[in-house]
Amino acid sequence: MAEFRLPAHSKVKPGRVHQAPAEARQPRWVAVYRYDPDSGENPRLDRYQVDLDGCGPMVLDVLIKIKNEIDSTLTFRRSCREGICGSCAMNIDGRNTLACTKPVAEIRGEIRIYPLPHMPVIKDLVPDLNHFYAQYASIEPWLKTDTPPPDERERRQSREDRAKLDGLYECILCACCSTSCPSYWWNGERYLGPAALLHAYRWIVDSRDEATGERLDALEDSFKLYRCHTIMNCATVCPKHLNPAKAIAEIKKLLLERAG
Ligand code: SF4
Ligand code: SF4
Ligand code: FES
Repeated sequence: MAEFRLPAHSKVKPGRVHQAPAEARQPRWVAVYRYDPDSGENPRLDRYQVDLDGCGPMVLDVLIKIKNEIDSTLTFRRSCREGICGSCAMNIDGRNTLACTKPVAEIRGEIRIYPLPHMPVIKDLVPDLNHFYAQYASIEPWLKTDTPPPDERERRQSREDRAKLDGLYECILCACCSTSCPSYWWNGERYLGPAALLHAYRWIVDSRDEATGERLDALEDSFKLYRCHTIMNCATVCPKHLNPAKAIAEIKKLLLERAG
């Protein structure tokens, strides 16, 4: 598959330049999108020359070094630093990914860092994900049952049924996929997008769930589901190597089968 690259934020004006001291041993230029809606100023691209000597190997390490040593006003999200929480998702070197698992060594030349594309920006690299989370909540991501568990203790699954959740439960809701999906860019208000749909399928396919029909009914909608045109950006960028497009195709297949 061809490398997917975004022309993200290409019109941002050059901003401030922070040069490394002359004694820097491993200077590297890093361009970072800066925007503070409260300031009334337009977004800009600040450039930092960072001494990578003694810096950790990941892009998140570079951002933390900039914030600690060069510019404390730089704002970004991070928590786990090991690809689990999903909070450091951003657009690095033209591609959505996690800053904490993206090695600097994989990037040639200047490191260019923008927020996830086509989302409102709260500040700098922090996008507003409220709508994204509301869409996730709308698929009702919990086990729904009408009957009590067979032994009053727990609902068991065969190994085969449990295996059907592989490739789905690992999603960390980082939003890399949805914000790389052209259909989501243009119809994100109504199209649920790959992340929410992957989770919808995770509950549809769960052998313990008793609301499959209800879940399929809720998705049978020309916008919520059928705006996916199998462009596959979602699978290309997913940092957990998941395939939301495949999950979406499975939902469409179930709806077709149900229609007979
Ligand atoms: S396959 Fe569907 S969900 Fe994935 S990027 Fe393409 S249109 Fe979006
Ligand atoms: S499917 Fe992948 S890219 Fe999309 S939200 Fe989940 S972990 Fe992130
Ligand atoms: S800091 Fe948690 S995924 Fe990057």
